[in-house]
Amino acid sequence: MRTLDDLLAEGVKGRRVLVRADLNVPLDGETITDDGRIRAVLPTLTALRDAGARVVVTSHLGRPKGAPDPKYALSAVAGRLGELLGTPVAFATDTVGESAQRTVAGLGDGGVALLENLRFNPGETSKDDAERRAFAEQLAAFGDVYVNDAFGAVHRKHASVYDVARLLPHYAGGLVLREVEVLRRLTGNPDQPYVVVLGGSKVSDKLAVIEALLPKVDHLLVGGGMCFTFLAAQGHGVGDSLLETEMVGVCADLLAQGGGKIVLPVDVVVARELSADAETQVVPAHGIEPGWKGLDIGPATIETFSQHIAPAKTVFWNGPMGVFEVAPFAEGTRRIAEAVSAVDGLSIVGGGDSAAAVRVLGLDESAFGHISTGGGASLEYLEGKTLPGLAALEDDAAEA
Ligand code: 3PG
Ligand code: MG
Repeated sequence: MRTLDDLLAEGVKGRRVLVRADLNVPLDGETITDDGRIRAVLPTLTALRDAGARVVVTSHLGRPKGAPDPKYALSAVAGRLGELLGTPVAFATDTVGESAQRTVAGLGDGGVALLENLRFNPGETSKDDAERRAFAEQLAAFGDVYVNDAFGAVHRKHASVYDVARLLPHYAGGLVLREVEVLRRLTGNPDQPYVVVLGGSKVSDKLAVIEALLPKVDHLLVGGGMCFTFLAAQGHGVGDSLLETEMVGVCADLLAQGGGKIVLPVDVVVARELSADAETQVVPAHGIEPGWKGLDIGPATIETFSQHIAPAKTVFWNGPMGVFEVAPFAEGTRRIAEAVSAVDGLSIVGGGDSAAAVRVLGLDESAFGHISTGGGASLEYLEGKTLPGLAALEDDAAEA
């Protein structure tokens, strides 16, 4: 696969470089609560600018439904990107319309533009190849070459990730290369003990990765909202906690298959409602009463999980242990993150939410071996799936 370095060696002065980035950052209204994904793509953008390219940046944000939705506008991101780059970023208020055309045409050498949220156009995520392709052609018209540095989106067969690479000479950005290089170490022969920690709300999102990892790991620790479906599979009442009823049978099978590798919480922090001033209790994992919901792992679980993590030579962690955004339910995620960062070996944080948690909780990012910018993407990579964005980069034939 050709890389950004190859492109820089060819020379980009005065050329329009269409860059797909993943600037899908968490927002609270118009405030960016974690700008990690913006920071992660800065080296690529700076290298292109310094070489005199005209840089056209594209991204999605959230999941708008194929039409403009002010809630998901990229304007705040354009502002933040400009601050971090130390140069104003021209913002187009549409994806491929008049504003985008004017903005791209107005770029000088070393200039940077950001187009509005790609998912405001139905062609971006369309399942219809022709519709996606038509949108990709409009995007491709903005670039002489294409760089994909959106690791967090490489698992999506979307116009800007997949189809554009088939229309323009294409290159992998530095972030994509680094992410793949680190994750590859987990699919080969990771040093043992190999411990995986999974959290987040849904078992259904993690099922494939659990099945793929179970034969390879020494321990799979499960926290977060998804642990309640496993606890239910063991016959425990889970009160009003998150529960995927239709997954209970699958979880029972996984527990049987896992032969003791799957480690579940022994206690949980419960509350009647999710709020910063909620009354909380710590109860045994088998003792959650109706009217109460589990919102974090408890202290005994933190202890057990930490003991499993400490001797590991390889750890992969994806998904918060509780609702860390709300103070009374942040402790599990904080302490597990600390345990992961303390291992004497390779520690990898996979993903959007867990990576954001590390920064939002003020933990030392440099203590981890690698913090991925891709949640779904890193999981699908570990599942061994073909990721459309990477496959398109590997395909050396551009049609254009
Ligand atoms: C993510 O946050 O997982 C990536 O930006 C991809 O977003 P998506 O899951 O909405 O496709
Ligand atoms: Mg996702």
